[in-house]
Amino acid sequence: MTQPKKIAVTGAAGQISYSLLWRIANGDVYGQDTPVELNLLEITPALGATEGVAMELLDSAFPLLRNITITDKAEEAFDGANAAFLVGAKPRGAGEERSALLAANGKIFGPQGKALNDHAADDIRVLVVGNPANTNALITKAHAQDIPAERFTAMMRLDHNRAISQLGTKLGKPSSDFEDMVVWGNHSATQFPDITYATIDGQKVSDLVEREWYLNEFIPRVAKRGAEIIEVRGKSSAASAASSAVDHMRDWVQGTEKWCSAAVSSDGSYGVPEGLIFGLPTVARDGKWEIVQGLELNDFQKERIAANVAELESERDAVKAAGLI
Ligand code: NAD
Ligand code: LMR
Repeated sequence: MTQPKKIAVTGAAGQISYSLLWRIANGDVYGQDTPVELNLLEITPALGATEGVAMELLDSAFPLLRNITITDKAEEAFDGANAAFLVGAKPRGAGEERSALLAANGKIFGPQGKALNDHAADDIRVLVVGNPANTNALITKAHAQDIPAERFTAMMRLDHNRAISQLGTKLGKPSSDFEDMVVWGNHSATQFPDITYATIDGQKVSDLVEREWYLNEFIPRVAKRGAEIIEVRGKSSAASAASSAVDHMRDWVQGTEKWCSAAVSSDGSYGVPEGLIFGLPTVARDGKWEIVQGLELNDFQKERIAANVAELESERDAVKAAGLI
């Protein structure tokens, strides 16, 4: 057994956390030889409900779960944290775009960034799930100048998983067998699920599906899947979001040579301005996300990536104008 890892989860009484916490407590992020301590952050009125969540976690008798702290203070929640899942934020309703949440949710992330900066462990890894995730991650990073930019990420893994699942259904293959899929850009309807490099069983996916299906069914279906879930389920995705958050953090910690889509702080590759939190093709090595370099882009890809850059720059300008960064 190694030293316990301290994992902070915000929005601990919410619907995503009700799945996420059980996966973390089961050892699905750091592995079966690493005990975990959970630091649960909620707003004050939800502390009672968080107590109930903690009681159920204890009743689950997880062998790796060592301690649970419940607090409404970010400084306490992030004290010594090795990983932080920033989930706590309002979800959108039917007919709303995620960017409409910026006014309500943006202000949550500056103080949390500062608390991470001042209190987290040196190896802190941050995954922002609360929407609009990319720009909320940008705000968090802006308030944590002592933490390397590479430690701030936003979730594109749900979009990635949706994409390989749609391909799996179309081609009658297990979704986990697809390689080199990427979802570029923003976790919004502008995102670009890109099959240009994707393969299955050594064959190019673009040779196996009709271009018309790719452009007019696949891309909009994946990009608008969140809205479709809200329409059908009546609430935004929760268990699938939690599962994708675990996939993201587990791969980041434990490493993978398989391409994943992660929104990371851009290094300027592929025409994405440095510092934007942008969905890119990544692999995880030695505890770090690495952006897959040297891919040739065609005009269609460049156009779709540029649309995401424009959208994220306008969100960045809006939060700058609002004094959030
Ligand atoms: P929810 O309303 O069920 O839970 C959110 C919780 O956050 C609530 O318990 C609330 O009290 C808490 N909260 C609010 N402000 C907080 C703060 N300042 N500090 C700590 N906790 C705070 O919502 P949910 O369904 O769990 O979704 C949470 C967020 O995740 C939403 O913004 C949603 O849109 C987003 N989401 C993102 C993805 C993605 O792929 N990035 C996927 C699904 C949902
Ligand atoms: C999702 O993609 O399911 C989440 O971002 C929730 C939403 O608002 O669509």
